[in-house]
Amino acid sequence: MIRFLEKENIFKIDTVTTSYIIGIADGKYPGHAYYGRRLPDDDVSYLMRINEAPFVPSKNGRDKLSFLDCFPMEYPVHGIGDFREDCIAVRNRDGYSGLELLYDGYEITNDKPHLDGLPQTFASDTGESETLKLYLKDEILGLKVTLLYTVFEDSDAVVRSVIMDNESSDPIYITKALSACIDMDNKDFELMTLNGSWARERHIQRNPVGIGFAGVSSVRGETSHQHHPFLGLLSKGADDDHGEVYGMHFIYSGNFKGLVYRGQFDNVRMMMGINDEDFTWKLEPGNSFMTPEAVTVYSGSGIGKMTRTYHDLYRNHLIRSPYKDKKRPILINNWEATYFDFNTDKLLDIARESSKLGIEMLVMDDGWFGNRYDDNRALGDWFVNEEKIKGGLKYLVDEVNKLGMKFGIWFEPEMISPDSDLYREHPDWAIAIPGRTAGLCRNQYVLDITRDEIRDYIVERVCDILSSANIEYVKWDMNRQLADLGSKNLPFDRMGELSHRYTLAVYDMQERILERFPDILLENCSGGGARFDPGMLYYSPQIWCSDDTDAIERLKIQEGTALLYPLSTMGAHVSVCPNHTVGRNTPFETRGYVALAGTFGYELDVTKLSDEDKAMIPGQCKMYHKYRDLVTMGDYYRIASYSGNGYFDAYMTVSKDRKEALLTFVQVMNRPNVHSRIIRLKGLDPDEKYLIKKFNMETGEDEVYLSYMEKPLSGETLMSGGIVIENLWGDNRGLLLHIVKA
Ligand code: DGJ
Repeated sequence: MIRFLEKENIFKIDTVTTSYIIGIADGKYPGHAYYGRRLPDDDVSYLMRINEAPFVPSKNGRDKLSFLDCFPMEYPVHGIGDFREDCIAVRNRDGYSGLELLYDGYEITNDKPHLDGLPQTFASDTGESETLKLYLKDEILGLKVTLLYTVFEDSDAVVRSVIMDNESSDPIYITKALSACIDMDNKDFELMTLNGSWARERHIQRNPVGIGFAGVSSVRGETSHQHHPFLGLLSKGADDDHGEVYGMHFIYSGNFKGLVYRGQFDNVRMMMGINDEDFTWKLEPGNSFMTPEAVTVYSGSGIGKMTRTYHDLYRNHLIRSPYKDKKRPILINNWEATYFDFNTDKLLDIARESSKLGIEMLVMDDGWFGNRYDDNRALGDWFVNEEKIKGGLKYLVDEVNKLGMKFGIWFEPEMISPDSDLYREHPDWAIAIPGRTAGLCRNQYVLDITRDEIRDYIVERVCDILSSANIEYVKWDMNRQLADLGSKNLPFDRMGELSHRYTLAVYDMQERILERFPDILLENCSGGGARFDPGMLYYSPQIWCSDDTDAIERLKIQEGTALLYPLSTMGAHVSVCPNHTVGRNTPFETRGYVALAGTFGYELDVTKLSDEDKAMIPGQCKMYHKYRDLVTMGDYYRIASYSGNGYFDAYMTVSKDRKEALLTFVQVMNRPNVHSRIIRLKGLDPDEKYLIKKFNMETGEDEVYLSYMEKPLSGETLMSGGIVIENLWGDNRGLLLHIVKA
């Protein structure tokens, strides 16, 4: 519920359990008054701390800068005396960069405004959401800025974005346009971020917030393997179930910046948006610029509550695909099975064997087009290589369909190899700075898809392939970062728009392809998980999590990813051992349990698998069908983290009605002379009784595990007392327990 409380002169945004309060200081300056647990009182304007403040400009104009430099600003501006990090900066026709945005009214609507060309949260019905539009204006510049705050009736999140309108008669250059800021008192905060590298994405990191700057960013033209557009501010010592947590997550897939600044008065400013490095947007008179959305979440009961809020918001208000709630086909992808060395016969061998075991879709990965015999060539030549795909694509797909399997295909539409027919014909189609030789990465360049003719050409090529056979899934890959930023399309004063335009172009291409093929199951991917972000979720209900398919490495990657993303979105496959990235051996059974916490599939040559491993696939497929809804639609609870304890990992999903739950336990290291462990369950109904069984992968059935589990135990006992898990004797052993209301 959003209200303007006239007497108190505050805006009160209430969600199910939180309140967010904005006040207008001195009738002019929008300030942040409160964000936290829901406040029952309305008369809370004193939280603005403005009445007693010595520096309010109307009372003490000679010290206006002192006011600007300490007041908790809702949307800090550049250049007039708030010396902390700001959210917006401009350059006018004469080169001046200062601006002052003063309150200019508001509107509260019961809808969710649409942001053209951007991924965004949505409401299905009118009345399901409310939006506060806070109007600010710089009269001198003629710039109107609207701060948008949307809440959904079923969510604790506040979704924010900003619209900038040029109401003057001259162009205004926007040089910085962040999406959200929260100015708070420091509470001995710790900063939680997700960081990593290729094959090591989204590892959780926590650090105390010291004086000065901390944060995450990308200037790679994609979200990146290295950082994630998320900031979590945690009260000191907060854990999964206790403490205060402020999350800020960005619905965007390009250059971003998430910053925390702790200043001299021990306040903390947390902000998120498009990275201003190399960014300028020329706003012509009469035009608007919209920032992508940032989603803020407050939890007064630990990290887990924040996680479940993001999961529900993304499931209900971000993912649009018709596959959102549908069971995804169990796929087998030939990448780790064959790399580039495959042909029709090889793929059909894999498909034949797979279909007998319960696998439901064959995905043909990189290498089926042009002269693509290795990763040095042919990107851009989206024509079937009939030397490899003998008989053509339609023949292959028809044969796979005859086996009762679906067919999926890989593309990397944004790229061009120097050794390609496309490049020979259009050397100027790559992003480059004229006169400089652009740098290669994986021996490829990036296409300048901000140019309409290039985007149109690629969309047509992809659509041609998709209409040539019964293709039901697309993996959209992107294997390099952007550098040498230059576009033939853009004049000098718009060159700073290239990175953002590039991201918008990716969205546009996916939107157009999905409009033509609405039933395609799209999976985004970027050299593993470099574009795993909420922006891509708007287009694809699942994203490849990482090129590291090692089940034990995946525990950390999937823990970090599941911090924000529903398990239904995480591409996870069982692959072969020794693992191709780390060389580790892990039992086939454990690999199955770990992949179950995602979309579930295979990434191996099933024709070369040992009989023993192969015999487990039907049981794993049964496991997926049996538990998939519980895993992907349930509430997620983290029980223990291998990333923190070094020995074991455990997490649960609990059905919304709390009648059923699943516990995954993986013992990574067998600690000498430790015989059993107590695991305290979470999320159950304390007053209900539950029975616990162990899933048997060989039979695909639940069976009795330990004798004490044969009798029903109350949720209270299972959560407070816990369950005893016996030592699994060996490293990398897994266990799946099914907890059902008795
Ligand atoms: C990177 C992806 O993450 C892999 O799964 C695979 O598709 C390769 N690219 C193919 O080049």
